[in-house]
Amino acid sequence: MLRLLAFPLAVLLLATSPAFADEGIAEHLAACAACHGAHGEGMQGAEYVPHLAGKPAGYLFEQLAGFRDGRRVNASMTWLVQFADDAWLHEIAAYYAALPPRTRAADTGATQLTPERRERAERLVHEGDPEHGVPACSACHGAGLAGLEPGIPATVGLPADYVVAQFGHWRNGSRRAREPDCMRAVAQALSPDDVRAVATWLSQQPNADGIRPARAGAFVPPVPCGALDTQAAP
Ligand code: HEC
Ligand code: HEC
Repeated sequence: MLRLLAFPLAVLLLATSPAFADEGIAEHLAACAACHGAHGEGMQGAEYVPHLAGKPAGYLFEQLAGFRDGRRVNASMTWLVQFADDAWLHEIAAYYAALPPRTRAADTGATQLTPERRERAERLVHEGDPEHGVPACSACHGAGLAGLEPGIPATVGLPADYVVAQFGHWRNGSRRAREPDCMRAVAQALSPDDVRAVATWLSQQPNADGIRPARAGAFVPPVPCGALDTQAAP
């Protein structure tokens, strides 16, 4: 009910780029808190929704613009940002990027991975699947999978169902990043069973120390990703 009431209000607020002091922005984003948590940390018990806090601003901006411009598909998200201009989306992105990164895992051990699937997931994360041309996840997402500014997000602690769905979206073309879209290539090369194993493994990793994304240029991914050409707020 609360959520339904919040929606029309949010549309009004998001339609234009309001000029207000940064302290007020949380109030303007109250509708987002209903799904993404009061501090963008995600919601316990709503484990399809990704967290936002501490992800690179450039990455968050690209996703918001993606929902608006049809490079990502989700009815609620598209509806909320459909009339938002770039300046307002940059403000939202900068706000969530500056919040402390989420520290807890989405799945605290409820889902069991067999030792073989756990080993397979850890191999994908740390070594990749060279036979199928897949670099290690950590080669792009960072040794602690905390991300790389400005365009690569943390993957630790994300809900497994969300990650599996994103791989599906990359494969079927409904989620697209700037070219070269390196995640599409990763998603196309992995089997559904690999995707489920790695998604479950990721969902069980906390970011206990609250590590932030590595600064831009701290390391160079093994293949080019257009996502790294994005800009944070101008
Ligand atoms: C009804 C619940 C709901 C509300 C309200 C909502 N979101 Fe979302 N949001 C989602 C879901 C679900 C996804 C994942 C969609 C998908 O499958 O790609 C998402 C994805 C996102 C993403 C992409 C995150 C990533 O890591 O790629 C951003 C950024 C985002 N939302 C920001 C916002 C902002 C800002 C607001 C408020 C204006 C908001 N959301 C309101 C449910 C919601
Ligand atoms: C070549 C570099 C590269 C490799 C290797 C890579 N990623 Fe990514 N990943 C990216 C980029 C770039 C993005 C952002 C794409 C976008 O903007 O949509 C991303 C985004 C993601 C996201 C989206 C997170 C969210 O909040 O929506 C997930 C999940 C993900 N990667 C998982 C993985 C996994 C699991 C692996 C290993 C099997 C992996 N990635 C390997 C570059 C890479």
